[in-house]
Amino acid sequence: MSQKFLVTSALPYVNGVKHLGNVIGSLLPADIYARWRRMQGHDVLAVCGTDEHGTPCELAALEEGLPVADYAAKYYAIQKGIYEALGLSFDYFGRTSSPQNRAITQHLFLRLWENGYIAERAIRQLYCADCARFLPDRYVQGTCPFCGFTRALGDQCESCTKLLDPTDLREPRCAVCQRSNLQVRESKHLFLDLPKAAPLVENWIATRTHWPKVTLAIAHKWLNEGLRERCITRDLKWGVPVPHDGYRDKVFYVWFDAPIGYIGISMEWAEARGTPDAWQRYWKDPATRLVQFIGKDNVPFHAVTWPAVIMAAADGFVLCDMLKAFEWLNYEGGKFSTSQGRGVFSDQAVELFPADYWRYYLCVVAPEKGDSDFTWAGFQAAVNSDLANVLGNFVHRTLTFVNKNWGGVVPEAVGAGDAEAAIRQTLADTVKAVDDAMEECSFQKAVRAQRDAWAAANAYFQAKQPWHQVKTDKAAAGTTLNTCVHLCRAFAVLGSPFIPFAARQLFANLALDGSAEATPWTTIEDWACLTGHKVSPKPAPLFTKIEDAQVTQLQARFAGAQTKS
Ligand code: 2FM
Ligand code: ZN
Repeated sequence: MSQKFLVTSALPYVNGVKHLGNVIGSLLPADIYARWRRMQGHDVLAVCGTDEHGTPCELAALEEGLPVADYAAKYYAIQKGIYEALGLSFDYFGRTSSPQNRAITQHLFLRLWENGYIAERAIRQLYCADCARFLPDRYVQGTCPFCGFTRALGDQCESCTKLLDPTDLREPRCAVCQRSNLQVRESKHLFLDLPKAAPLVENWIATRTHWPKVTLAIAHKWLNEGLRERCITRDLKWGVPVPHDGYRDKVFYVWFDAPIGYIGISMEWAEARGTPDAWQRYWKDPATRLVQFIGKDNVPFHAVTWPAVIMAAADGFVLCDMLKAFEWLNYEGGKFSTSQGRGVFSDQAVELFPADYWRYYLCVVAPEKGDSDFTWAGFQAAVNSDLANVLGNFVHRTLTFVNKNWGGVVPEAVGAGDAEAAIRQTLADTVKAVDDAMEECSFQKAVRAQRDAWAAANAYFQAKQPWHQVKTDKAAAGTTLNTCVHLCRAFAVLGSPFIPFAARQLFANLALDGSAEATPWTTIEDWACLTGHKVSPKPAPLFTKIEDAQVTQLQARFAGAQTKS
């Protein structure tokens, strides 16, 4: 039965271009999941977009010498282009700075206010007398009181990773003017009453037993430590304005409006297609399954604070059904680093190799049970062995053989025997394994199951020896090739969510319509649909192998000295 699915990827900060860890940490899994559900015939709305508010974005704009709105628009467009090149099939890629997100953020805030979940508090903050402004978060730099690092920021020390408050810093200075003409001033702010919402969140989390272990562990850790009131306003101009007297010169904290951005972006989608209320069909239907993909650092916001907002606002929005958190992808044993130019960034990735090579390898090394490592050797092996030697080779030998011996017309299967029964069972088991893996959002398992099926298909071809059969018993050879062509089609359908570009080419090689409508999941095990069908006389290779010399060159290029991306 068709169900409604809302699929979201964590919204990447708009500043800069993201690295491959960010791609496998939420963007790619959300796309694969959405594609898989669509092919199953479900009603899917998949959204993502840029997270544009907050001090990192403002400071990056300052560094690049652009007004912050122009800076955000520039990197929104750059990121959108890269994700399209990676084949990410979001129904809409929007922005948290949209008018829609502003409206829904203000609306939810007012509901929280009416329902008694907002508290007013006076806090002491640093104020730059030269810039005549308060300095929230990263607007203050100084010396870390814990480790003595001299370039610590007002929210966290990059050296010892301790969380800080701007007033904790020694020798504080303003990040805008770099001067130290700072004063401590009192200012009123609004706080989300998380202690009041805690019982709602605790009861709800207790029903999420199907969530992955890492997600639950982090959520429980937060709840066990006890929830504190959280300041949701900032003295900034860039952000969603606070719609309440006494606070109209302030904006909301970025982590207040960012998750609401999932709804705001759905509203952008609805407006763009001329059905402005269509987003409500998903967000306000209790039967909708909301499936969210995030990095593990985002768990507290998605498992605790955002659900607290949704439940406290009590406005009929659906809560998350599945929260899949990824751990970290490292680069050749160390960290990806934007500042040191270490590792591969998404803009470089799409220029270097076809998107599917990254998509496949990133699933192979998806950091699902702990941190994992990107290595060039692993990437080369995945492309050369799994994709080119196993899948590519199977498709090539099958179609070449059909073209050579039957003029491209798929022969009949007569007298299918034990070997055919066995490979059909393998395919049935594979479909179940992929579905089970995807149901639990385990991407590594889903690609491993397919790779094993490609290998089994090659072994079947090898064992049947159609090059001998064709000389002694052409009908028997026909059975073999009929089976192999149907396997090629099955692999194209199964592979579509994961390696959509290669799957498209494979459909073209089979002279089939590869559109989503023509390739529903239910047809994977159709063993009769291609008998008598004529395949392409000139099938194109699906993958090109990566040479050792190229790997050596890439290892050197991305080792850390490249200029900042
Ligand atoms: O950690 C991040 O990259 C955040 N920009 C994720 C935000 S997800 C959602 F809440 F918007
Ligand atoms: Zn200043």
